[in-house]
Amino acid sequence: MGNSLGKLFTITSFGESHGNCMGVIIDGCPAGLPIVEEDIQREVERRRPGAVGTTERWEPDKVEILSGIYNGLTTGAPICLLTWNKDIDSGVYKRNRFALRPGHADYTAFIKYGGFNDFRGGGRFSGRITLAYVMAGAIAKKLLSRLGVDVFAHTVEIGGIKAQPKELAKIKENASKNPLWCADQKAAEEMSRLIEKAREEKDSLGGIIEGIALNVPVGLGEPVFENLDGELAKALLAIPAVKGVEFGAGFAVAGMKGSENNDRYTIEGGKIVTQTNNAGGILGGISNGMPIVVRVAVKPTASIAKSQPTVDIKEMKEVDLAVRGRHDVCIVPRAVPGVEAMMAVTLCDFALRAGLIPRVIK
Ligand SMILES: Cc1cc2nc3c(=O)[nH]c(=O)nc-3n(C[C@H](O)[C@H](O)[C@H](O)COP(=O)(O)O)c2cc1C
Repeated sequence: MGNSLGKLFTITSFGESHGNCMGVIIDGCPAGLPIVEEDIQREVERRRPGAVGTTERWEPDKVEILSGIYNGLTTGAPICLLTWNKDIDSGVYKRNRFALRPGHADYTAFIKYGGFNDFRGGGRFSGRITLAYVMAGAIAKKLLSRLGVDVFAHTVEIGGIKAQPKELAKIKENASKNPLWCADQKAAEEMSRLIEKAREEKDSLGGIIEGIALNVPVGLGEPVFENLDGELAKALLAIPAVKGVEFGAGFAVAGMKGSENNDRYTIEGGKIVTQTNNAGGILGGISNGMPIVVRVAVKPTASIAKSQPTVDIKEMKEVDLAVRGRHDVCIVPRAVPGVEAMMAVTLCDFALRAGLIPRVIK
């Protein structure tokens, strides 16, 4: 239970970090959409390690299309996408099987599944799960592009270092120039240095990712229990290590006056727009046509090489644990494509529900 998301564009994720594969089944994708493996592979490449402080686990992550696509076109049947896990080293996990990693899901998963959960590499609770999200997101992005919707994300903060705000139109291109996906090159260099320092100190860092969707039509979202912001938040919180979500001005609204927070309407080229975007493109749970702007807080990686006190759940005694193995010192850069994917999957579902995407694409 709990491994599927969406009403009309439904994704079901499967696979464990050190199991055979990671995969996703997408049901509800309209027929006739041109898709080839390279379209999905391109997105998958963006979440691979490469930035300073990312895992040394090197997976080929070669995407295979198992069903639902024939002659480069979706058929309307469920689409199954997967990649095989190759670079597996479960030794450390087996040795520390019962020493609960502070900050990870070891304790909660052990209790919930009675110890039967695949603990190797974090199993279902590994960041590798976002590979499935990104594969599904590649298809969602393609569908959304037919409406002119562009979804992208970038790193705005790591370890307290903040990127300077950039012009919206330049963020996507600038962020693609460094492996941290940060549109401010100077800040990116500082962030890299800080990550390196955290690695030397056997510690980890968190940060903030901003997701943006441009040209979203007015009217997406189903109040009151399936609000667009609520469903986006749900999808984004399914990214492991995401602990907070805010839209537009977010938590800062609490300190504003109405006259400051209210986005004033105006007319631009015959269209109603707002002069500011404190609402982050969503009012009353419905998209208002302004860019959707959402920020997620990513916690520092739980698995750190620094020794920490914990509990051995089998022996029921207190022990010290220094987590060995291959871990990301900072999860943020590798979660950026995941943020884009979860936004795209959610927006795609709502676009189908609004009847904006036909069931057969001609
Ligand atoms: C791309 C990505 C990579 C991750 N890599 C690691 C890692 O190397 N070590 C680790 O302890 N956690 C890592 N995580 C986070 C854990 O999976 C997550 O903290 C854990 O499942 C507990 O869930 P929670 O933090 O959402 O409560 C990663 C997450 C993502 C999105």
